[in-house]
Amino acid sequence: MKKLAVAALVLSSLSGGAYAHEAGEFFIRAGSATARPTEGSDNVLGMGGFNVSNNTQLGLTFTYMATDNVGVELLAATPFRHRVGLGATGDIATVHHLPPTLMAQWYFGDSSSKVRPYIGAGVNYTTFFDEKFNDTGKEAGLTDLSLKDSWGMAGQVGLDYLINRDWLINASVWYMDIDTDVRFKAGGQQQSINTRLDPWVFMFSAGYRF
Ligand code: NI
Repeated sequence: MKKLAVAALVLSSLSGGAYAHEAGEFFIRAGSATARPTEGSDNVLGMGGFNVSNNTQLGLTFTYMATDNVGVELLAATPFRHRVGLGATGDIATVHHLPPTLMAQWYFGDSSSKVRPYIGAGVNYTTFFDEKFNDTGKEAGLTDLSLKDSWGMAGQVGLDYLINRDWLINASVWYMDIDTDVRFKAGGQQQSINTRLDPWVFMFSAGYRF
């Protein structure tokens, strides 16, 4: 009798039933989000291009299932902070940004699947703030740093594993097209440098379903 009960439990957990994503469901994921820029820029004052460090922050996604397969998702995060280097000079500045991203998603499988791989496409808006040259940058005569906000496309793949009615675990990766103009003064002369960040963003999270 006990064996039967265990077998029934295992079978019901494998088949999933009401455990899986379905139309009308809302869920939040929270975890680590690591931005790895694939940066590049025009040559800056003959000293080479900008390079940009990786950074990890708290990532949050808010997802609504319009059907059993179609989701709409907003990505938010605590502000990313990147060190900016220039050629062989080393770090010259730090910048912060927020990259909210709205995605339309397709979840494979159906409302009885415990494992839901998905793909998404959407739009990213990135706003930069707290742009500052450090002492190395200031000693090189650089002042008045500001980065232009960016609009671009974003793509994503991910996987949800549904643990039970309430909880899931997730791994996902985004590619975001983020390009900006880096504006500053060098010895009082205004400069504007086309720069691409185009980061991969890796997220590992736990999700709660309402
Ligand atoms: Ni780009």
